[in-house]
Amino acid sequence: MGGAVRAVVYPYPDMKSLSRGAAEILVAQANATVARRGRFSLVLSGGKTPLLLYRLLAGEYANRIPWLRLHIYWGDERYVPPDDPRSNFGTAREALLDHVPIPPENIHPIPTDLPQPEDAARAYEATLRTQFPGVWPTFDLMLLGLGADGHTASLFPGSPALKEPERWAVAVQAPAAPPERLTVTMPVINHARQVYFLVSGIEKTKALRCALTDTPDIATCPASAARSLNGAVFWLVEEALLLPHNPWPDR
Ligand code: 6PG
Repeated sequence: MGGAVRAVVYPYPDMKSLSRGAAEILVAQANATVARRGRFSLVLSGGKTPLLLYRLLAGEYANRIPWLRLHIYWGDERYVPPDDPRSNFGTAREALLDHVPIPPENIHPIPTDLPQPEDAARAYEATLRTQFPGVWPTFDLMLLGLGADGHTASLFPGSPALKEPERWAVAVQAPAAPPERLTVTMPVINHARQVYFLVSGIEKTKALRCALTDTPDIATCPASAARSLNGAVFWLVEEALLLPHNPWPDR
């Protein structure tokens, strides 16, 4: 008897079809959740992969999303000002949030203007706790990316943050510029009602293999430890990363 399904993989031929697939999923999930619970909490991911999705949501899909009922959060942030091109908040604001009628009070960026990143992590957790009174936040849908080293959000291989048992957000040192980052912790990811990874780029082939393995190892492949409240995680991936003849590039 097999265990519960852990990963559901949706292959797409290219970034455009992957982004459109993600947009259709968000339209369906946002409307169903708002109809059921009156609001939809969506966690945006950083990096480049979601950019086309964000532009689609601001464009041809904009009139299919119940923006007034959405609350927007981030899974991680680089400790730079919002107008820095590396800012995940700044990127989402430019590609999406400045173009849709979401109430400003429904947008909850991770602060990056406090004296220390640790202060910002605690401030973000305090904000989340005003929105989610339980032991853990239960975001309706969390978007995540995958790094070539198996990281997700800003949870990098070997990071002490991977062992954080209680806090909802922490400051970390990333092995990539900019080094100072803030991230939600793995228990926060695991308490999201739904988790969707968007993965593109042939350089992630090996990371995807480790992330989809049946023997997760959070220390070396943080993404492999991602679960949702019901256990399943959805993966929207470029199909080239799944092809058997793919040379599985070494690190
Ligand atoms: C970040 C992200 C990070 C990202 C992956 C993939 O702040 O960089 O949250 O986890 O999702 O590194 O990045 P790309 O989409 O740019 O490949």
